[in-house]
Amino acid sequence: MAVITTIEDLKRLHERRVPRMFYDYAESGSWTEQTFRENTSDFDQIRLRQRVAVDMTGRSTKTQMIGEDVAIPVALAPVGMTGMQHADGEIKAARAAEAFGVPFTLSTMSINSIEDVAEATTKPFWFQLYTMRDEDYVARLIQRAKDAKCSALVITLDLQILGQRHKDLKNGLSAPPKLTAKTIANLATKWSWGIEMLGAKRRTFGNIVGHVKGVNDTANLGAWTAEQFDPSLDWDKIAKLKDQWGGKVILKGILDAEDAKMALKVGADAIIVSNHGGRQLDGAISSIRALPSILEAVGDQIEVHLDSGIRSGQDVLKAMAMGASGTYIGRAFIYGLGAMGQKGVTKALEVIHKELDLTMALCGETSIKDLGKHNLLIPKNFEGDWQD
Ligand code: GLV
Repeated sequence: MAVITTIEDLKRLHERRVPRMFYDYAESGSWTEQTFRENTSDFDQIRLRQRVAVDMTGRSTKTQMIGEDVAIPVALAPVGMTGMQHADGEIKAARAAEAFGVPFTLSTMSINSIEDVAEATTKPFWFQLYTMRDEDYVARLIQRAKDAKCSALVITLDLQILGQRHKDLKNGLSAPPKLTAKTIANLATKWSWGIEMLGAKRRTFGNIVGHVKGVNDTANLGAWTAEQFDPSLDWDKIAKLKDQWGGKVILKGILDAEDAKMALKVGADAIIVSNHGGRQLDGAISSIRALPSILEAVGDQIEVHLDSGIRSGQDVLKAMAMGASGTYIGRAFIYGLGAMGQKGVTKALEVIHKELDLTMALCGETSIKDLGKHNLLIPKNFEGDWQD
């Protein structure tokens, strides 16, 4: 067995083990994938300040996100179709997150349902909501998340319509995969994935199938979701959803200081600076570049989290030192899940924890809470020198 020391190692194993359409789904950005690429390459532009002769004993990476204790400031992001990367993927990822001491966020577009994950875990998880035209369905979904004792509602704001991802269209992405000559040829090389999938609790969207009238098979489901995302979602509707939920709300998909101010106005508990992993508006700036202006606008009044581009503990440190109060990994844990199931998610978290802890030490810090801009060398004009 290869020695796994980086997230990249897990990615290679993921690619080998999981059917191409699901690997491609995880690894895609929209259109030219410029934003997807810059989410990671912009992190590389920031350098770290090495400090020496600092007592490094008794280090701690612990902190809090929305008042919840976290072992590292890294939540698992909501990722659609996680249960297609590995049998019972959402259950496995949630269990790994619980054991490690970080939040797990379940996507509306998950394979395991809210109830499946609640049954398999003891700690409350977070639920990510896509708003649909069918208001009764959304109300029931919110009620189900309440019944499952989810401790936060993460409302995604940047996917009222889907950004085009060429590979998904070309691969005929679906859950479960449709058996065409191309998918059968590929599945034949992924037998361990297939055998485990035969024993999975579910193989299609567990929060939807059986919960929406007329949607009982996957052929209907594709058409239903394409029609159902609510293109009219606006700040008034967000305020209403917040009232309906009545608990903590995190607004995901903020990339502009003006929108951050609106999120503050509706009374969100936190925002996630995010471009959806480069999967929505290609050509938008990276999350890490958007972070400073958003922190300047609202950072002293609301928790500002960040996703899109985090692949290492060093990336986590850079975001935290810039002023974020938490980060999320999507692909980084999906690689682990696809590679090795629950153990792989744990491995991804361990890799990131170790990188974060050692980097913190070499920067002369012993606590995540003491990180700041003094630990970073940020290029001049990092945010971009754009015309008014
Ligand atoms: C859904 O959230 C996706 O990005 O595919």
